[in-house]
Amino acid sequence: MFEEVSQGLVYETLRTYNRVPFAAYKHYNRLMRSVSFFDIPFSMTFEEFVDILKKGTRQIDRESRIKVLLSVKTAELFFVFSPLNISSVEEGVNVKISKIRRIPDLSTPPSLKITGRTDILLARREIGECYDVILTGVNGQVCEGSFSNVFLVKEGRLITPSIESGILDGITRENVIKLANRLEIPLEERFVWVWELFEADEMFLTHTSAGIVPVRRLNDHLFFEEEPGPITSTLMENFEPFVL
Ligand code: PDD
Repeated sequence: MFEEVSQGLVYETLRTYNRVPFAAYKHYNRLMRSVSFFDIPFSMTFEEFVDILKKGTRQIDRESRIKVLLSVKTAELFFVFSPLNISSVEEGVNVKISKIRRIPDLSTPPSLKITGRTDILLARREIGECYDVILTGVNGQVCEGSFSNVFLVKEGRLITPSIESGILDGITRENVIKLANRLEIPLEERFVWVWELFEADEMFLTHTSAGIVPVRRLNDHLFFEEEPGPITSTLMENFEPFVL
């Protein structure tokens, strides 16, 4: 696999819920978007894709995490199945603003999931004791975590950086937006200034493996002592029942 890794990979990370690969069609679609962007000579039907996922996850006797990796150069496809290990995130996590700015790379828009993005790699090196770090854009906007999307709550409104801010359109983000609509929580998708995070009432991250992850502390700013704020808690309680 070394050759393929060194030539670049497009990838997806999936997980199972109740041992069933979750949102497989959305991950398949996003993978295919990368395939067509890079013009990779690769084709696989959704049925074939799901079949491999099902066979692989059956080998694991609990919830699994699945990495799907596709070589940009050779179009070789790899599936890596592992038991899903998520540390308990309900009590909240600490995050910090990364020193790294999202590098506007017109050749590979942030909406494509590809390994080896310089900004992501450098940002991940800063994680240390934190759960994730938040990348900002050259215009001072909040972009996303190095492996997650960002949400904040201000005066009862849910706010998240728009796709145009230069982010990956996360599948969990999309589900949270749909859930907020269902719960009639007002939502804004827009350009978000970094200082708005520090003035927010609540903040959370979203990503496939852990779903909704409440943020307890951003740099030195404490969002809560005991329990995540009401909107984060409501979304967390309703997330699984809504998407499954
Ligand atoms: N990360 N932003 C970035 C840069 C990501 O890498 C990810 C996913 C997300 C969240 O997307 P989703 O909700 O579709 O998982 C946002 C996965 C978990 C990874 O890096 O393996």
